[in-house]
Amino acid sequence: AKKWGTPLYVYSAGRLLKNFHDFDQAFRAVPHLICYALKANSNLSLARILSHEGAGTDIVSAGELFRALKAGFPPSKIVFSGVGKTRDEMRAAIQKKILMFNVESLEELDTLNDVARSMKAVASVALRVNPEVEADTHHHITTGTPENKFGIRKKFIFDAYRAAGRMKNIRALGLQAHIGSQITSVKPFVQLVKTLLTLTESLANQGINLRYLDIGGGLGITYRDEKPPSPFDLARALEPQLIGRNMTLLFEPGRFLVGNAGILLTRVLYRKHSGKKTFVIVDAAMNDLARPALYDAYHHIAPVKRARRASKIVDIVGPVCESGDYLARGRRIPFPEQGELLAVENAGAYGFAMSSQYNSRPRAAEVIVHGNRQMLARKRETLEDLIRGEK
Ligand code: LLP
Repeated sequence: AKKWGTPLYVYSAGRLLKNFHDFDQAFRAVPHLICYALKANSNLSLARILSHEGAGTDIVSAGELFRALKAGFPPSKIVFSGVGKTRDEMRAAIQKKILMFNVESLEELDTLNDVARSMKAVASVALRVNPEVEADTHHHITTGTPENKFGIRKKFIFDAYRAAGRMKNIRALGLQAHIGSQITSVKPFVQLVKTLLTLTESLANQGINLRYLDIGGGLGITYRDEKPPSPFDLARALEPQLIGRNMTLLFEPGRFLVGNAGILLTRVLYRKHSGKKTFVIVDAAMNDLARPALYDAYHHIAPVKRARRASKIVDIVGPVCESGDYLARGRRIPFPEQGELLAVENAGAYGFAMSSQYNSRPRAAEVIVHGNRQMLARKRETLEDLIRGEK
């Protein structure tokens, strides 16, 4: 913080590598590819650590394709998700020869076929099915139920594969689903895999043989007192269904890989009492870390220096001009001094990636530590960055 200023995102390369290797090791008995969900944290240096370890990536836009390639992911390990890919985005991804598009509607399939035809190419696809499995998580981040915009309805999936089969510029190679995020039990995953395998078996009976089974991301982490399964627990629960199948398993984890590999460092600006509450005003705000304001998400916040002092129940808030701008509410913490550093924990996923310049606040810097080395992975934005492109 002294060197780079605050607010500052700090990532641990060691933790990131451990998370990746744990996941990879856990599923060593089945052919698989881990396609890191780049949306969780798309910092180039961070992503490069994963590409270097052999990970693939799951992208959702032309912007993420651009980043993925810069970060060294080979196109043969890139899958492209999302309900609203544009023709331009399809063209860019076909040109780079990515592994697969995860297609979410018949109209999208049609359009992809058309774009591929215009390029005299064949686009490989997995169809994303809405498996109608409850993920048991926050309603903003559940995706596998009929309430959600994602995927193709189960009862239409056979028609969709038959349609794909008739398209000259489409090759259907896989089946994909993603049921939600921050899932803290194995049950929904077991149910998901069962549903997906029933589908692939029925498809095989109709002569449609798929090579890839992509079960999406969603494995949760501990923010407060959740006890999510480890990748080893997950593998143990899923393996009986998966072993001996002639399919490559794809995963799209985001949060699990980067979530607990990052903290947000922030400095205490002021303390004050409102008559009802005690506020600790810090220099990080909802524009830096949106999750508390957006989802009422819990992030543990701890003083960086462990000093002995009385604890107090406080609201930890940022400088943004909204009452909803908070990092913690009604939280008991050792009452910090003015100027003291606080660490907002488990901020590596959907932290910087969802940050904005709201209130014309330049975005934070990002630093990666590896053992006793550190590197600036993204400079703090300047005032000039705020007005780039404006007239
Ligand atoms: N695959 C697809 C198709 C996805 O939509 C997502 C996340 C993932 C993989 C990665 O999911 P993960 O392993 O990270 O759970 N901003 C929210 C989370 C949104 C998740 C969006 N999709 C949050 O901060 O909690």
